[in-house]
Amino acid sequence: MENSKKTKGIILAGGTATRLFPLTATTSKQLLPVYDRQMIFYPLNTLIKAGIEDILIIIAPDHSGQFLNLLSSIFKKTGINLEFVVQMIPRGLADAFIVGEEFIGQDNVVMVLGDNIFEDDISQAIKNFKKGGLIFTKKVLDPGRFGVVEFNKNGKVISIEEKPSNPRSNYAVTGAYAYDSRVVKIAKSLKPSNRDEVEIVDVHNKYLEIEELKVEKIKGAWLDAGTFDSLLKAGNIVKEKGISRNFDPRIEAAVKKFNQNLRELAKKKLL
Ligand code: DAU
Repeated sequence: MENSKKTKGIILAGGTATRLFPLTATTSKQLLPVYDRQMIFYPLNTLIKAGIEDILIIIAPDHSGQFLNLLSSIFKKTGINLEFVVQMIPRGLADAFIVGEEFIGQDNVVMVLGDNIFEDDISQAIKNFKKGGLIFTKKVLDPGRFGVVEFNKNGKVISIEEKPSNPRSNYAVTGAYAYDSRVVKIAKSLKPSNRDEVEIVDVHNKYLEIEELKVEKIKGAWLDAGTFDSLLKAGNIVKEKGISRNFDPRIEAAVKKFNQNLRELAKKKLL
């Protein structure tokens, strides 16, 4: 039974992105450009490079047609299966596992946030992941903006707090998480927080409580492109480090095909 488990992927690309108004009044945050590609291609690349071929993209009702225009047909015949589901209300990060319940089924799942850009290839960690939970952390200068991991002197994780005012370390929880299918039940059992969201930190802590949470430190650049400054910084780092030039070849082939189709339509004056 264990061997028949697949690992599926989720990209959480909904939300209202009020911090990026007015840019996000006309499109979704995850469709904004980060250097030469729409933001959504970066988490897609993280999952596809990790060998994941079944991917659910969770989107908000506004601008959902734009996601379909861009992505719904370009991966045909590549072996990559993309599905889309609308999250009507942004109920929190852990809600992705409730919205995605049917898609996850009995399989393991890796979720990447739609505004997270990773330089590192996390495929080895994903291949080794079998059971429990796995989160990725990165040392940052401003941990209070993120989930924060506290380690004891032996390197064991002892707590994880969401946006603490007194962070207990500089290790931020990045927006990539692997869980086994028990995550659905866990997400459904959570009580909404003060801001009325089901919090992903509560999911991490449930796995920590049962001693099944692993934490991996990442070395390369990690960007959360949710503010004007981080969006600008993300574009510059992507260009500098050639992140979009090193996308999985299937993504590049899909983008090429998309551009070709557009050029043909433009030639026929159909655009
Ligand atoms: O980027 C890493 C951080 O992401 C972690 O360190 C935090 O622990 C985690 O809570 C999260 O914090 P953020 O404040 O960055 O989360 P935000 O509300 O910006 O949501 C992250 C993405 O998920 C964003 O692209 C919008 C999308 N989203 C968010 C919510 C709450 C949804 O699609 N649906 C939702 O219900």
